[in-house]
Amino acid sequence: MKRTTLLLILITLLTSGVLCAVQAAEKGSQRQTIRLNKGWKFAFGHAADPQKDFGCGTEYFNYLTKASSIHNEGPYAQKFNDSIWQEIQIPHDWVTTLPYAAEASHSHGYKTVGWKYPETSVGWYRKVLKIGEEDLGKRLMLRFDGIFRNAQVWFNGFYMGTEPSGYATQIYDITPYINYGGDNLICVRADASLEEGWFYEGAGIYRDVWLEKSAEVSVAPFGTFVRADLKQKPGNAVLTVRTEVTNSGHQKQQYAVDIRLLDAEGQEVVYGKDNHPSNLNPKDTRGQLCVMVVKNPHLWSPDDPYLYQVEHIVKVNDEVTDVYTTTIGIREIAFDAERGFLLNGQPLKLKGVNMHQDHAGVGAAIPDALQAWRIRQLKAIGCNAYRASHNPMTPALLDICDREGMLVIDENRLMGINEEHLRLLERMIKRDRNHPSVILWSNGNEEWGLENTIQGTRVAEAMREYTRLLDPSRPSTVANAGGTELIKGLDVVGFNYIVQNDVDNRKKANPSWKIVGTEETSGCGTRGVYFNFPGRMVSINYHPTPNTQQPIPPNVIERGWKFYDERPWAAGLFYWTGFDYRGEPNPLSYPAHDSEFGIFDYCGFLKDEAYYLKSWWTNEPVLHIFPHWNLAGHEGEEIELWAYSNCDEVELIVNGKKLGRQLMPKNGHLKWKAVYQPGKVVAYGYKNGKRTMTKTIETTKPAYKTVLKADRMEIAADGRDLAVVTVEVQDQKGRIVPDACPTLNFTLEGEGRILGVGNGDPMYLGVDHPKEKDCRQFSIPAFNGLAQILIQSADNPSALTLNCQSADLKSGSITIQTR
Ligand code: GAL
Repeated sequence: MKRTTLLLILITLLTSGVLCAVQAAEKGSQRQTIRLNKGWKFAFGHAADPQKDFGCGTEYFNYLTKASSIHNEGPYAQKFNDSIWQEIQIPHDWVTTLPYAAEASHSHGYKTVGWKYPETSVGWYRKVLKIGEEDLGKRLMLRFDGIFRNAQVWFNGFYMGTEPSGYATQIYDITPYINYGGDNLICVRADASLEEGWFYEGAGIYRDVWLEKSAEVSVAPFGTFVRADLKQKPGNAVLTVRTEVTNSGHQKQQYAVDIRLLDAEGQEVVYGKDNHPSNLNPKDTRGQLCVMVVKNPHLWSPDDPYLYQVEHIVKVNDEVTDVYTTTIGIREIAFDAERGFLLNGQPLKLKGVNMHQDHAGVGAAIPDALQAWRIRQLKAIGCNAYRASHNPMTPALLDICDREGMLVIDENRLMGINEEHLRLLERMIKRDRNHPSVILWSNGNEEWGLENTIQGTRVAEAMREYTRLLDPSRPSTVANAGGTELIKGLDVVGFNYIVQNDVDNRKKANPSWKIVGTEETSGCGTRGVYFNFPGRMVSINYHPTPNTQQPIPPNVIERGWKFYDERPWAAGLFYWTGFDYRGEPNPLSYPAHDSEFGIFDYCGFLKDEAYYLKSWWTNEPVLHIFPHWNLAGHEGEEIELWAYSNCDEVELIVNGKKLGRQLMPKNGHLKWKAVYQPGKVVAYGYKNGKRTMTKTIETTKPAYKTVLKADRMEIAADGRDLAVVTVEVQDQKGRIVPDACPTLNFTLEGEGRILGVGNGDPMYLGVDHPKEKDCRQFSIPAFNGLAQILIQSADNPSALTLNCQSADLKSGSITIQTR
């Protein structure tokens, strides 16, 4: 066991107590964190007619007049009969089952939800929970990581509260309302009539729900804050650990908090014993501070995301009552006016993307395994930073970013300085400030009403100070659309688009500004589409006049990266966006419903631009040629062929004709012209004059078979894990047919379910998944040779076999083991 010096300065906060000596932590904690994602029932209510909303609130002495009124009749009442309600599992986004309509919201992807659709905009959830007698004397809390939106919560008929924001974690103390040894009822009403963003937001309990049990004297919710300082003692890290302890009981208690630091193997590194217990009155919360030195810490970085754990061991009368664990990474971050972003003292260019929480097949209800898969796709092209546009992230995703090594801008939704605004900002920061992945708070995005006014500067300054108060270890920003005033009040200036902001001249005029490109255009185009077609479009990188009359300058993806790469004072950039998302199908409109800004499509299939970034963001050899060579109907036309590559030179041969060898410009691309005839395109890549890579694309034969591939062949049998299955439509020679869109019919055998399906077509108008939880059949057309099926495990180990059939094609299948 490796131990280092200990702690020790102490505690100047609200209380005292000196930590010293070293000893192993005792167990005995009453803390239990239980996921409540299963066994829920769901039904639509009504946003405009209380009668159709199960009479909610219409009773004589309704839920707002008396605590658990005897007149309660609605779904919050235990006697309510929900036998015909649908069984569902959290995370749940009811919008995924709704149809599209031309008159529905453009920004939200034309789904029939919102104020025009009162009958599908309110969702009710009920869950019965057994709580044993043994929990008497503990503090029990319900935690919702996010409900979209305006969520009302009842427990055993008692009204717990309302959270207007769809992005806030909500916590309710249910202790006094519990029926120990019997059934307890959780009831939630979510109302998605109004939008909080201008992008698809889903509806319902789309993030995790937790039951948190702890001792009466225990760490407060999100009651820890651990900061690392690498400057004070070079070679060592000085950790400042703040712990807030709360007494939910009715007696005054004396308590102490020991602190233990564990390395990634669970070995103790430092133990700090608190020899000076403090007193805590009933219902009071007190904070204390411990400082500890970690010798030669293993630093966290995107390449080596090493995590430690801090255990906060609460003792009452020398008995352990609570062990609360905070996962941390030891790293130092800074934004510098000359050197850009610094991680552990070294400049690191932020190669980032913006992302909304939305994926094909599941909408906003993205299971953790899929979140992790999405982050891995981004990392594979060299992306190292994620901006959670434009709302606080799901906590589970932050855990994934910590583990996978992805830097994060965590973003607040609405700017403002009054109680509601600051409460939400505070909740985000207190919840997320221990995550090593978070490097910057964003207090807002493109607030047009504030950007050009003195009021904007004042609001920005006030929010900046507030974030500093809650977290002195990180700066904050606001993403600016082009205004001149609000940006004067920021720690780090975030620019959305260099074409809208004269970044160079602003920097010249304000040399002390720290700058990051919070948004930059990636392009806009449908995967595998090279000729405009209604509802789909060619990437504006390749084709400067998409389905609009307005010509757009080409190569916009190169414009952003070249600019930020060439300026050492700039921290880096975040493309708009990493993945396509539903809503904002600009410049198209219904029946197109998905944005096409992504570097990946809505399923996470790579578009051509992904290879541009991979070329310049990684050291892996890349040679990508497009378009594909199945351009039937364009025989005899002159076609531009492009190469994205990090080879020094690329040579192209089309149908046997040598088109020449060209030098690849840094951060650029190459192009040739050829007359299309079916055949073969061969590209050779050269490094230092030597041929190192060959890439061949051929006109394929007709689609012949489907081939199924999974990201993992073995997943956990926990009812939550999932495999991401890609269906490739191939010809006889095993080549993907890049324009094939046959209808695919799936059947699933074994214990598990088809959670969702997608194909990346922004105009796909089918539903995202089977309505019934245990449905075993589903059909979807492939889009340009590909489709995606998300297969989720059940609780029992099983062999899950997915079969895919398509008229005239040889069927494919895959078996995934769940353990
Ligand atoms: C930006 C905005 C994004 C998205 C994008 C679409 O101005 O911040 O949220 O709407 O435009 O082009």
